Amino acid sequence: MPVTYARQGRIGVITIDNPPVNALSQAVRAGLLQAADAFAADDQADAAVILCAGRTWVAGADISEFGKPPAEPFLPALIDRIEALDKPVVAALHGTALGGGLELALGAHARIAAPATRMGLPEVTLGLIPGAGGTQRLPRLIGTQAALEAITSARQIPAPEALEAGLIDRIAEGDLTQAALDLAHDVAGQPPRRTRDLPAPAVDPAQLQALTERLARSARGQIAQATAVDAVREGLALPFAQGMAVERAAFRALMDSPQRAALIHAFFAERAVAHLPEIQGVDPRPLDRVGVIGGGTMGAGIAVAALLAGLDVTLIERDPDGAQKATATVAGLLDGAVTRGKLPAARRDTILSGAFRTDTDYAALREADLIIEAVFEAMEVKEQVFAALDRVAKPGAVLATNTSYLDVNRIAEATGRPGDVIGLHFFSPAHVMRLLEVVVADRTAPDVTATAFALARRLKKIAVRAGVCDGFIGNRILSHYRAAVDAMVLDGASPYQVDRALTKFGFAMGPYAVSDLAGLDIGYMTRQRKAAERHPRDRVPVFADRLHEMGRLGRKSGRGYYLYGNGAPQEDPELAPLLDRVRADLGLTPRSFTDEEIVARTMAAMVNEAARTVADGTALRPLDVDVVMLNGYGFPRFRGGPMHWADAQGLPAILADIDRFSAEDDHFWQAAPLLRDLAAQGRSLADLNEGTKS
Ligand code: 3HC
Ligand code: NAI
Repeated sequence: MPVTYARQGRIGVITIDNPPVNALSQAVRAGLLQAADAFAADDQADAAVILCAGRTWVAGADISEFGKPPAEPFLPALIDRIEALDKPVVAALHGTALGGGLELALGAHARIAAPATRMGLPEVTLGLIPGAGGTQRLPRLIGTQAALEAITSARQIPAPEALEAGLIDRIAEGDLTQAALDLAHDVAGQPPRRTRDLPAPAVDPAQLQALTERLARSARGQIAQATAVDAVREGLALPFAQGMAVERAAFRALMDSPQRAALIHAFFAERAVAHLPEIQGVDPRPLDRVGVIGGGTMGAGIAVAALLAGLDVTLIERDPDGAQKATATVAGLLDGAVTRGKLPAARRDTILSGAFRTDTDYAALREADLIIEAVFEAMEVKEQVFAALDRVAKPGAVLATNTSYLDVNRIAEATGRPGDVIGLHFFSPAHVMRLLEVVVADRTAPDVTATAFALARRLKKIAVRAGVCDGFIGNRILSHYRAAVDAMVLDGASPYQVDRALTKFGFAMGPYAVSDLAGLDIGYMTRQRKAAERHPRDRVPVFADRLHEMGRLGRKSGRGYYLYGNGAPQEDPELAPLLDRVRADLGLTPRSFTDEEIVARTMAAMVNEAARTVADGTALRPLDVDVVMLNGYGFPRFRGGPMHWADAQGLPAILADIDRFSAEDDHFWQAAPLLRDLAAQGRSLADLNEGTKS
C-alpha cells in the first residue's frame, strides 16, 4: 500500500510511501483518493496532513507512465477532490516538491516545508507544461510574473523564498511531522482555504511580451515554454474550471509531441548510463585524495571540479613556473565560481590554503587515491608519465588518463599495473561540462571502473562507459560527421550557412564556430597526427590547413572562420575567396546546398558512425551515444540524441539518404551493417536499449 490513512488525536495522517521519489503512479493516485475519502468520512478528524516517507515529498507524476494509455484516477481530478474537501488539509513538504508533487501541495489548504525543501515545476524540461493545475493555481498564489518565471525556467525555489512569495505558509522548525500536526491543529475548524477561489491575478502584456521574446532565444526550437505562457495567459482570463480545461488540452497535446518523447528519453537515458552490469555489486575504491598531472586547460579544470566537490587535490606541473601558472588558473576558476554565486568566498580561501597544492615532484602523489593525467596529447609523453607514476603511486591507486584520442591500452602497458589504469575523458571546461567518458581498457579492473562512476557522482557529472578506440564514443563520432561537414564546404557550402543550418536544427553552436572556440591548431594537429594513416580517398579540409598556416587560430587570435572583436563574431568577407581558391586548386566546381541537405548529411554521418560504435561495443547501447552527444557536443536535447532522432525519422529513411550520398562518394558513405540489419528486421535502435526505462 503506497498510501495509508491513520489518525493522531483529531488529525488525519495520510502518508505516501512510494520509493525512491514518491512519484504519483496510478497506485499512489488511487491510494490518495481512497485516503481523501477516508478522511472525509472520519468524524474523529478535524483536519489532515499529507506526509511523504523517505527522502522526498512527491517529485512529480510517474514519468515512466507517460506515453502509455492514461489510467484513472487522473491527477487533476484527484487534486480537485482534495481541494474540495470541507475540512482543511496540510501538505508537509521535504526534499523536492516537483511537478505533480507541487501541484498536489497547491491543492492542499495549507503548506509547510522543511527548511531545505526545494519546490518547482520542471515539466518544460520534459517537453510538457504542468498538467494538474500548476498553470492556474501557482499564479493565484504567487502572482503571474513569478509563476511564469518558475514554470518556464523549471527553477527549483528554496523554502525561504517560497515562504516570502506566499507559496508556502510556514517553514518547519524542528521535526516536520510535528510542525505539520501543529499547523493542522491551528487550521482545524476553519473553512478550507482553496487556492482555486483566490482571484486570478492580472497579466501584464508588456511583461508577457518580454518573456516571450526571451524564451524565443533561451528555449530556441522548443515548444513547451511558449505553450506554458499561453496556457497561463488564456487560462487566467477564464473561470478556474475552464482555465484548467485550457491547461489540460495543452498538456495532452504536448504529451503526444515528439519533443516530449525525446526529452523523456533523455531523462531516463541519463540515469540508465549508470546502470552498468559489470560494476553491479562492485565496491569502488576509496576516493579522497586526487592527484592531477598537468595544469593546462584540462588539468586546472579537473582540479577545480574535484575541489568544488570537496576532494583534496595535488597538481603536478613540469617546473615552478608551470606550477605557478596552474595555481593562478585554478584560483581564477574558483574566483569565477564565487562571482557566479556558486561558491562562498570563504570556501574558496580555505580551498586555496588547505585542500589544493601544486608541486613539481611526482613524489607528492604518494598518498593519492586517484591520479588523473592531463599532459600534452602525445603517446611518448603519456607513456613516460605513466611509467613515472608506476614508481610513486601507492598500491591500489587508480591511474587515469584524460586523453582525447590515444590508445588507453598502450598507456596502461607503460605501467606494471594495467588493471589500475582507466581513461577519464573530461570535457572542456572540465569544471562546468557534465559529461565524463569512462574509457574502460582491456585490463581495467571492475572496481577501478566502479571508482570512476563513483567519482562522477561525487562531481555531479554524468559518466558514460566507452571502449578503447580512436576518439572513444564522442570524438570518434565527431570526427566522422565533421568530415561530412568539411566535404560539403569543399563542394561549395559556406561554413556560415553550415553553422546557421545546424544551429537552426538545434545545435548549441555550429561546427565552424566550435572550431574557432577550440582553436584551429587543435584540428590541424590532429590531421598531422593522422596524416600517415589517411586513405587516398579521404577528403582533406585543405581550407582549414590554409587558415592555420595564415595564423588564423580562431577566437584566441581574433580571427578564424569568423572575425572576433567587441560584440558578436562577424562573418569574414575574405573567407569566400579563400575557399574558392582552395576549390579551384582541387579542381572542384562549387555547388549549392540547401539547409535541409546540410542537416541530412550531417545527421546521416553522425548516425552511421554512432551505429558502428554500438555495433563494435565502444558504446554499450544507443542510449549511451545519445547521452554523450547531448552532454558533450551540444546536440539539441529536445531531439533526444542522434539515436533517438534516427528512430524518430525511421531507419529506412536514414539508409535511403546514405545510399543517395553514396552514389557520389562510396568511400565515405558506407551504411553501417547494424542499421541495415535493424531496418531489414523492422526494428529500431531503441530496441537495443533493452532493460532500460527509456
Ligand atoms: N517518475 C518516475 N521515476 C522517477 C521520477 C518520476 N517523476 N523521478 C525520478 N525517478 C526515478 C529515476 O529514474 C531513478 O530511477 P533509477 O534509480 O531506476 O535510475 C530514481 O527515481 C532516482 O532518481 P534520480 O537518480 O534522479 O535521483 P536524484 O536524487 O538525483 O534526483 C529528483 C531526484 C530531483 C526528484 C530527480 O529524480 C528528478 O528531477 N525527477 C524528475 C522530476 C520531474 O520532472 N517531475 C515532474 C514530472 S512531470 C509531471 O509531474 C506532470 C504533472 O504536471 C501532471
Ligand atoms: P594544455 O597544453 O593546456 O596543458 C598541458 C599541460 O601539461 C601544460 O601545462 C604542461 O606544462 C603540462 N605538462 C606537460 N608534460 C608534463 C609532465 N610530464 N608533467 C607535468 N606536467 C606536464 O593541454 P590541455 O588542453 O589541457 O590537454 C591535456 C590533455 O587533455 C590532452 O591529452 C588532451 O587531448 C586532453 N583533452 C583536452 C581537451 C580540450 O578541450 N583541451 C578536452 C578533453 C581532453
